[in-house]
Amino acid sequence: MSNFYVTTPIYYVNDKPHIGHAYTTILADVLARYHRLAGDETMFLTGTDEHGQKVQQAAEAGGISPQEHADHTVVRFQELWERLEVTHDDFIRTTEERHRTIVQKILQDLYDRDEIYAADYDGWYDVTSETFVTEKDFDPERASGSKPSIIRIQERNSFFRMSKYKDWLVDYIETNPGFIQPDFRRNETLGFLKKDLTDLCISRPKNRLSWGIELPFDDQFVTYVWFDALVNYISAVGYQSDDERFQKWWPASYHLIGKDILTTHTVYWPTMLKAMGLPMPESIFAHGWWLMGKDKMSKSTGNVVDPMVLSETYGVDAFRYYLMAEMSLGQDAAFSEASFIRRYNTDLANDLGNMLSRVLKLICANCDGRIPEPVAPGDAEAGLREACLAAAEGMLASVRDMRLDKGLAGLAGIVRETNRYLEVKQPWTMAKTGETEAFNTVMYYAAEALRIVSGMLHPVMPDKMSALRVALGLGDEAPAYESLAEWGVLVPGQAVEKPESLFPRIQVEKATASKQSTKATSKQAKPAQAAEAAPEGVATIAYTDFTKVELKTARIVEAEKVEGADRLLYLRVDVAGESRQIVAGIAEHYKPEELPGKTVVMVANLAPAKIRGLKSEGMLLAASEGDQLRLVSIDGDLPSGASVR
Ligand code: MSP
Repeated sequence: MSNFYVTTPIYYVNDKPHIGHAYTTILADVLARYHRLAGDETMFLTGTDEHGQKVQQAAEAGGISPQEHADHTVVRFQELWERLEVTHDDFIRTTEERHRTIVQKILQDLYDRDEIYAADYDGWYDVTSETFVTEKDFDPERASGSKPSIIRIQERNSFFRMSKYKDWLVDYIETNPGFIQPDFRRNETLGFLKKDLTDLCISRPKNRLSWGIELPFDDQFVTYVWFDALVNYISAVGYQSDDERFQKWWPASYHLIGKDILTTHTVYWPTMLKAMGLPMPESIFAHGWWLMGKDKMSKSTGNVVDPMVLSETYGVDAFRYYLMAEMSLGQDAAFSEASFIRRYNTDLANDLGNMLSRVLKLICANCDGRIPEPVAPGDAEAGLREACLAAAEGMLASVRDMRLDKGLAGLAGIVRETNRYLEVKQPWTMAKTGETEAFNTVMYYAAEALRIVSGMLHPVMPDKMSALRVALGLGDEAPAYESLAEWGVLVPGQAVEKPESLFPRIQVEKATASKQSTKATSKQAKPAQAAEAAPEGVATIAYTDFTKVELKTARIVEAEKVEGADRLLYLRVDVAGESRQIVAGIAEHYKPEELPGKTVVMVANLAPAKIRGLKSEGMLLAASEGDQLRLVSIDGDLPSGASVR
């Protein structure tokens, strides 16, 4: 057990929160929750950056004070974090007294020790980014016109002696490989440090910017926003106010940041800390950006994803899962609603939804709603147990390595493996034929797999996984890793509940089916729908006729009886992310609960037909002999939508 302290950037209070803000904060939340699950004492800090020109200007435009403006806008972030199930331990605002006094103490101390000095500045200033511009970066176009964004200024300012720490910083970064992550970001900072490192101007005259923390040694100036903002990471945990607390949490385990604020965090902040005589954070981790296709999200083009809208449409947990599973930490990732829906439907609605509904429904229907007693586990059971325990351990390892996507892929693999195990064992048949002991063993093992998956996914989808754990009779407390690194925790006899539908499928607009030709193979095969709708008695056909038939693999997602039709089942199948409904004449041969998860073969380009008033969008292939009928299925693992030739 150890202490884990994670921070997010503090967000500009006048920004409207978007997917980028939501991503870093959810990432911090997920890391914090995994560390809590592992038994670590955890401190998770987020907050808002409330000083600076933009807040001042927005307040002036609205005819209110900057503080009032900040008080209004901060709520957008606070409400969003609540909505997104973010469990920060503290929320710091840079306008709070507890922060301001510490910034001033630090400034005074550095000034007293000659780490800060006053000097005249004569040069270019970028009014948009509120930074000084070196001659090298100067763009004359931006300095011309009626409203130049770069202006020439002459003023007296305060400077922090950053340049003197350059050699120390290069050496520190080189000897501490984990300090800046990922590796290529470390190289980026080292590249930056190869150039001249100047001292840092840390003051702004009040006549240009009044909304900031006043310099304690010159009341005509406020401090530069970054010198104020970065200090939040220590002011929030008791620096200069509560020694015991500060010793407990500092240095931070992770500062999570976006790649655009790398220099401030890996050059300004370490040199500031060094001048203060404080230890360095263990790691500064820069993640990539969420893009819209290949483009940067930007307010001006209007292509910004609003996390509030997305989480309201598809659910908070699904949104959290998508963000964590889709982005490979450190790299950029492209956001699209289509990729969101694809991942949701595959990982959650199909795979996990199937696994939980099969396990709980079969136990409810056949074991009096109680966890059954396993009797004689064999090799398949031992294999499932080892795979589950390895995936749980792998998830924690991936948290340490900042490869959440990898750990989550491992857990998704376990879900698929359990579904396959059920398909191979066919407990529904065992229940019918009275093989009670074998049935009980299979169901106990599948239920244990579900327990471990639900526990290990809890930090990512706290709400849905709590509901699932309650259904499994485990209560709604956050799980602890100890119990997830162990097999056999479910107690036989414990009551379980039928699950509500945790991940209802998202309907997708029909994708245009790809025009692939198919070749003949199964002469015996008969469409499962034939009993009701297909033309009968086709004798021989030309090869060219057959190539018109598009055969594809389809994964059955849902199956239900059709009211008033003994032979029909209503099926919902997935074909490469596209959802289709099929009415098939197989009710005398299959129970609805046996079907979800099976990969079968369908005629994909059949004109839709109405059967008993229900639209049917394809035909399943089945082989029949006498009164026996079996669906044609795929030998091995292939995704849905694969063409059959
Ligand atoms: N206030 C400063 C941070 C001070 S920390 C001491 C700031 N705020 S911000 O609100 O502009 O940005 C906060 C974070 O959002 C940054 O880490 C930034 O990289 C991140 N993102 C902004 N757009 C993003 C995406 N499109 N995708 C992912 N993250 C992005 O900077």
